[in-house]
Amino acid sequence: MTGFQDRDRLAELWYREIEVFRSARPESEKLWHAAVPHLPDGVPMLWMAKWPGPWPVFVKEAAGAHFTDVDGIDHVDLCLGDTGAMCGHAPPASVAAITKRLATGSTFMLPTEDAAVAAQLLTDRFGVPSWQFTLSATDANRSLIRYARHVTGRRRILVHDYCYHGSVDEAFATLDATGAVVERRGNIGAPVPPSETTAVVPFNDVEALEAVLRSGDVAAMLIEPALTNIGIVLPEEGYHDAVRELCSRYGVILIIDETHTISAGPGGMTTALGLSPDAVVVGKSIGGGIPAGAFGMSAEFAERARASLDLEDIDVGGVGGTLAGNALSLAGIRATLSEVLTDEAFASMTARATEWTVGVQSTIDEFSVPWQVTQLGARSEYSFRATAPRDGAEAAAADDFELQQYLHLHALNRGILITPFHNMALMCPTTSPDDIERHTIAFRDAVSSLFR
Ligand SMILES: Cc1ncc(COP(=O)(O)O)c(C=O)c1O
Repeated sequence: MTGFQDRDRLAELWYREIEVFRSARPESEKLWHAAVPHLPDGVPMLWMAKWPGPWPVFVKEAAGAHFTDVDGIDHVDLCLGDTGAMCGHAPPASVAAITKRLATGSTFMLPTEDAAVAAQLLTDRFGVPSWQFTLSATDANRSLIRYARHVTGRRRILVHDYCYHGSVDEAFATLDATGAVVERRGNIGAPVPPSETTAVVPFNDVEALEAVLRSGDVAAMLIEPALTNIGIVLPEEGYHDAVRELCSRYGVILIIDETHTISAGPGGMTTALGLSPDAVVVGKSIGGGIPAGAFGMSAEFAERARASLDLEDIDVGGVGGTLAGNALSLAGIRATLSEVLTDEAFASMTARATEWTVGVQSTIDEFSVPWQVTQLGARSEYSFRATAPRDGAEAAAADDFELQQYLHLHALNRGILITPFHNMALMCPTTSPDDIERHTIAFRDAVSSLFR
């Protein structure tokens, strides 16, 4: 229930914005026509076709919180590559370290000095002492799932209903109306029915969690400490204490995926809430704009994993990747963690996210719209329901794709980019109060067009 019933009006507003887009973006249109014969839907990854509008916006260049497209239009970027550019585009310190490394050799299958320094920086933030590096958060999650199965001898991975952890097979499962584990809508080519590999519980549901863990066949619980991929769903008081206690009681490896929730602060929610996972995953932002992911393990888990592996077979065990842990990623992570994603940067990003949230809330209040907005440090998100959701299913029920597409296209036409998958805005260290004001004005205009 989105609280917006007048679909004729929505269609009329949508087509009006489509015309605005068409007339403003001829150069993007040309590039798109040239790309279509070579790329499905004219884009290098099909999900890029999900942006609102008849063709994608082609980027020319970017710096900090802004990018310019090939039609010369300046945008405030509140998507920031869905966190890949959370440092802002081309952060000078990361770019300097990365280009220096690139010019002196970028991949060797040998360590450089940066590796241990980067690992120490991650330990300082997230607590766990033992780190490995990948090219993506997806791969970090996959690696940990393998290690967890390997050391526990158990098969199932437990996730939250409506979670997202990258293209990890085990995580594309939801609960149906009867509480059974089924494939998530849109899952492409599942290798086996997900009920064979995956257990699913609603976020914030301790009773359901214990019922599943009691089965004794769960290797790992892979979670975001707050859901961020179905809108933001925050943990209730005591939820994480219960998760930790139950995982310990039933011998389950607790993996906290901080890829998005790092928005909560330099050490993500792990540090902000004082959590003690067995493993932590980070990715996207930590490379300062280049592919980089990492997973950290507690001393005990790292020791169990290492002790279970034979050196002779270590390269064919299913964890790794030729370019994983390459020198370029490590140089990027070291510079980004020490010079870009600093405490001061987080203070500024969080202040901007608060301004954004206040701006959205003021429009919701002014027009008495039955929507809500939730902030998690440097990111914030509105959804089409009156109260904050308690779990993923509640959040999913509030989805309204057409309404969302309209709001995103309306914003795009006013030079503001919002993450295409839901209504999330992310701040980078150089996002300014003027950037936020641009969104506040545009959002009020969009809501007024719908509800006046
Ligand atoms: C929580 C979380 N984990 C992992 C990933 C996967 O990141 P990547 O696509 O960079 O592998 C995502 C992507 O959105 C994510 O939100």
